[in-house]
Amino acid sequence: MLTIFCLAVGLDPRGVGRSSPIRCSPDIWNERVSLYPKTEGEFKKLVQHNQDFAASCVRLSGDLVGHVDTTSVAKDMEAVRIALGNEKLNFIGLSYGTTIAAAYAELYAQNIRAMVMDGVTDHSESEVITQVTEYLGYEEEFVRFAAWCSTNKKCKLYGKDILKLFDELLAKAEKSPVPAPGCKKTCRHNVTWEEIPINMQDSLITKEPNPGDSDKSDTWYGLAEDLHKAFNGDATAFSSEVAQDEHFAGWQGLMVNCLDYLHASKSASALLYQQQLAFAAAPHTRGAQESYLPSASCLGWPYPVQNPPHYANVSGAPPILLVNSFYDPETPLSQAVAVLEQIPSGVLLLRNGDGHTSFNLKGEASKAMAAYLVNLTLPAPNTVVNS
Ligand SMILES: *[C@@H]1O[C@H](CO)[C@@H](O)[C@H](O)[C@H]1NC(C)=O
Ligand SMILES: *[C@@H]1O[C@H](CO)[C@@H](O)[C@H](O)[C@H]1NC(C)=O
Ligand SMILES: *[C@@H]1O[C@H](CO)[C@@H](O)[C@H](O)[C@H]1NC(C)=O
Repeated sequence: MLTIFCLAVGLDPRGVGRSSPIRCSPDIWNERVSLYPKTEGEFKKLVQHNQDFAASCVRLSGDLVGHVDTTSVAKDMEAVRIALGNEKLNFIGLSYGTTIAAAYAELYAQNIRAMVMDGVTDHSESEVITQVTEYLGYEEEFVRFAAWCSTNKKCKLYGKDILKLFDELLAKAEKSPVPAPGCKKTCRHNVTWEEIPINMQDSLITKEPNPGDSDKSDTWYGLAEDLHKAFNGDATAFSSEVAQDEHFAGWQGLMVNCLDYLHASKSASALLYQQQLAFAAAPHTRGAQESYLPSASCLGWPYPVQNPPHYANVSGAPPILLVNSFYDPETPLSQAVAVLEQIPSGVLLLRNGDGHTSFNLKGEASKAMAAYLVNLTLPAPNTVVNS
């Protein structure tokens, strides 16, 4: 059995990479529309923009646009498993990969040998609750970052009231977009208030560099440098990427969401309630984060939902290892605990720490994942590791 580990296969999910990627009009995508419409007129403008964009995708990519949902991706994965010799599946999914994992387990539980879900998403909740759990996790992690940085001499914003400065930055951007002078062709020349939290979220994924790694730019130290610049008028680090041609990395994820959630027919009033809830519940980051994007950008989407939120009911699966940190800015622990309820054979390993996903940290959680994938040894339920 060990021979199967000599070959690791990374699937290129439909709609991205080299397998018939989704193509759309970059010009329509790059038109700037607010994802936080306040009036019926602004709302109509957003819906019209989405419909024009979707029409360009259908024109350039055909009906594929309506079939990139996660259930279809799980079925592709099964086809690849069979084509590779029909051995049982060993799978490690990180972040959105855990959505694929759960969809696969639901359909083909009996074909799994080992499955790891690291940074767990829960597809059983309504769209609003999914967002609330994510932005509460994001807000909590940002507040933890601020406390950590303001008391850490090595952090660029040591001694500063980071939350206050951040609130002031958003208030300023609300009046007039903050310049992004470092952006030439690939990102926007200025940044609106809503783009700042949306583009900052990924910067919380990794707190500290791994031992021996000298590059701190993708860690909380790098975020502090970027915020320092933004507080001084240069928000380049938080500027949105501009689509250069008919392939753009962000599109497929958006389209998956348009088919995995019931966004399309929401009213202007319902969206405004969502915004007000977010502003009250997450006063710094204001609910402007990844799972909000489809809420606004899938309005008016022309294809029916394929994989609406539902309880996964994974029965008949072998033990499945779930892993989550306590403080995750993208897939909060509440989602992992909720998914565990849907997988009776699941074991959840907890990491007492910050950040999104644990495998790449090469710590104790990562060792536990490897031991399970190779030897099928599982941590005891409720095990907590520190790295
Ligand atoms: C923001 O940048 C766009 C071009 O990317 C420009 O059209 C617009 O005038 C700028 N707004 C401000 C306030 O600088
Ligand atoms: C879950 O799946 C099992 C096996 O397919 C089925 O017997 C059971 O009724 C399902 N439970 C729910 C709540 O759908
Ligand atoms: C798997 O088990 C063998 C034998 O006990 C052990 O030597 C090896 O380190 C284990 N592999 C992992 C990845 O933990």
